[in-house]
Amino acid sequence: MTRILRLGVNIDHVATIRNARGGPDPDPVRAARLAAQAGADGIVAHLREDRRHISDSDMERLARDIDLPLNFEMAATDEMLEIALRHRPHAVCIVPERREERTTESGLNVIGGHNHLRRFIDELTQAGIRVSLFVDPEADQLDAAKQVGAPVVELHTGAYCAAQGWRQSRELDRLIAAAEHGAAAGLEIHAGHGLTFANVAPVAAIREVAELNIGHFLIGEAIFSGLDSAIRRMRAIMDKAVAESGNIRSA
Ligand code: PXP
Repeated sequence: MTRILRLGVNIDHVATIRNARGGPDPDPVRAARLAAQAGADGIVAHLREDRRHISDSDMERLARDIDLPLNFEMAATDEMLEIALRHRPHAVCIVPERREERTTESGLNVIGGHNHLRRFIDELTQAGIRVSLFVDPEADQLDAAKQVGAPVVELHTGAYCAAQGWRQSRELDRLIAAAEHGAAAGLEIHAGHGLTFANVAPVAAIREVAELNIGHFLIGEAIFSGLDSAIRRMRAIMDKAVAESGNIRSA
């Protein structure tokens, strides 16, 4: 059977543009509906502590109005836990969050945050929510994720996307090794951050990766070609990479 590689479309930066003016447009929920029509398998939204893009009411409307699985990215705080338990999205991805950062710059320190994270993973899992941890591609972080009871990890692809030439090959090797290590430990493997038309194919070709989550580039590209076209093109590049990788496994 053909390997399935899901595309989660992150609509945070539609809200970034809206918030630049403070009115209702453009509406991230409209973007989520359009993403569904264009072939996205899921919608991703990050409710940050400072609400710099997605708002509480966006989250409420996404949970209520969108039929696709919703992946709610959040920091491990009691406030976010309460919101997640109220909306019960399909999935929660726990990410580190620092106020001064422009984006999620590195993965979680699962090793250092073990005791803190376990309570969040347990409560979310008991509510029927699939939990993933956003981690750098490092074997000891993946081992810690497994140990703390997370069924899924999302590998941070930022270092791979930012690197050039042989450094990028080295970062790709790290992603491949981490994906193999995590899958062998029984973790479902996702990946994301910084992916574009130009760099997505080698990550899509990693056999163990089941889902890619992509936002900023798609929303930026939508300015030039429209969101529908940007998502369809990303899907096509991912599907081609899967087909050409020859890495076929049962779905
Ligand atoms: N995955 C996670 C866990 C993220 O935090 C982000 C950024 O919000 C993404 C994927 C998407 O990254 P980008 O917007 O660079 O495509």
